[in-house]
Amino acid sequence: MYNRAMGIERVIDTSLHEDDAEENVVEFSLRPTNFEEYIGQKRLKTNLKLAIDAAKKRGDVLDHILLYGPPGLGKTTMAGVIAHEMGANFRATSAPSIEKAGDLASILTNLTDGNILFIDEIHRLRRAVEEILYSAMEDYKLDIVIGKGPAGRSVKLDLPHFTLIGATTQTGNLAAPLRDRFGHSYRLEYYGEDDIQKIIERSANLLEAKIEPDAAKLLAQRSRLTPRIANRLLKRVRDYADVNGDGIIDVPTAKSALEMLEIDELGLDPADRNMLSLMLDKYGDKPVGLNTIAALTGDEASTIEDYYEPFLMRLGMIQRTPKGRIATDVARKHLKK
Ligand code: ADE
Repeated sequence: MYNRAMGIERVIDTSLHEDDAEENVVEFSLRPTNFEEYIGQKRLKTNLKLAIDAAKKRGDVLDHILLYGPPGLGKTTMAGVIAHEMGANFRATSAPSIEKAGDLASILTNLTDGNILFIDEIHRLRRAVEEILYSAMEDYKLDIVIGKGPAGRSVKLDLPHFTLIGATTQTGNLAAPLRDRFGHSYRLEYYGEDDIQKIIERSANLLEAKIEPDAAKLLAQRSRLTPRIANRLLKRVRDYADVNGDGIIDVPTAKSALEMLEIDELGLDPADRNMLSLMLDKYGDKPVGLNTIAALTGDEASTIEDYYEPFLMRLGMIQRTPKGRIATDVARKHLKK
């Protein structure tokens, strides 16, 4: 049986594999750097272009921007594109790596006017750190207490005029005072299959991998409408074609590779099928709580919520109700149960 706790890596995992340096180098080199190269997210690009043109025309910094939506859809990439289009320096960090208020104070005081600070997973900021951001975002002031107890005194420092870009998978978990300080808030949408195919063809080109259009289409159909998964599948299928064939990715090669990876026609992998299967076998059409599902599969509840669920919900295989999650008839049919 598949169990995440056994440490088996999922190819369709949408998290960035930070421990895999080589993978990250490739991942980075595949990222578009400007709007022209960035495929999809048309509405978002239109809105951002307007905001950027307006800010440039006024000689202003860009208002703070919140990007939200399921993982792997290009929030970090888009933040980099925004910085490039503004001609601004880009400093990227993530909330879990900012442990103390002092860590954030140090990041903020090292910025200069016009810099773009990107904070990934911003919903995971600690309260004490988050509170520093309020006046930093609103008035470009840093409010800190130096020293402890009666000797402690409050100081206010001027900060450079920077733009914060925050990314989150869960706007619901963002404190209202933080959410309200973003001038722009945009949701990244799942991509169309045609756009995913274009992304695969663009990446194949950059990787100097040969892929036939029908094979790119097949991969696109199984990439959960998510560029990060599309690029990861492309790399795995390229490995397969290099080892088992002449290096050219055609439909039969792509099909065999996907079969080996156990990724089905809808892009589900063994972990998805295992979770749905457990839900159906043990709870039928009754709701089951997130923590119970996590205990059954051996995953963290947040992994299920962020990584498995959004796409399964989009496919109509899982429904969220106040009493818990229900695996639907769509899931039952797909699993032939
Ligand atoms: N690689 C990953 N995401 C991309 C996108 N949206 N456009 C082009 N290449 C990408």
